[in-house]
Amino acid sequence: VVPRILEVAGVPLRTGYVEAVATWPELERRGHGSAVMAEIDEIIKADYELGTLGTDAFPFYERLGWVRWRGPTSVRTKDGDVRTPNEDGYVMVLRTPSTPAELDLHAPISCEWRSGDVW
Ligand SMILES: CC(C)(COP(=O)(O)OP(=O)(O)OC[C@H]1O[C@@H](n2cnc3c(N)ncnc32)[C@H](O)[C@@H]1OP(=O)(O)O)[C@@H](O)C(=O)NCCC(=O)NCCS
Repeated sequence: VVPRILEVAGVPLRTGYVEAVATWPELERRGHGSAVMAEIDEIIKADYELGTLGTDAFPFYERLGWVRWRGPTSVRTKDGDVRTPNEDGYVMVLRTPSTPAELDLHAPISCEWRSGDVW
């Protein structure tokens, strides 16, 4: 769980960003991924305003309460916000007790720049 600042419609949110979830192929579908995510979700709900991750494994995360982000994605750079259209539709979020009640899944969302994959 990587601490990041994501902005939703320009409002910064302390975000727990989940990276590199994988089960060894021969051991898939035995509950290991769900067990790991249950622990991760508890960390995010205790410490962050929002959980976020990038994936195409939507059904796996939807069972666990994650929802797909519907708004446009961008990265914040020193030259301003740059759209990341290839990420649109592949970002999911987990609400926590600290998530603003008015969170709009269709709003623009942005992450801070970093080397490698920005999302
Ligand atoms: C996605 C992944 C982490 C799931 O791990 P896992 O240990 O197999 O997960 P679980 O055994 O806890 O799966 C529980 C349920 O999630 C769902 N599920 C799991 N993998 C799924 C997939 N690839 N597609 C759709 N549903 C899936 C199923 O409903 C499954 O229940 P079932 O086996 O009774 O049908 C694993 O398939 C994986 O490593 N995939 C490759 C990497 C990846 O896509 N990572 C996520 C992107 S960040």
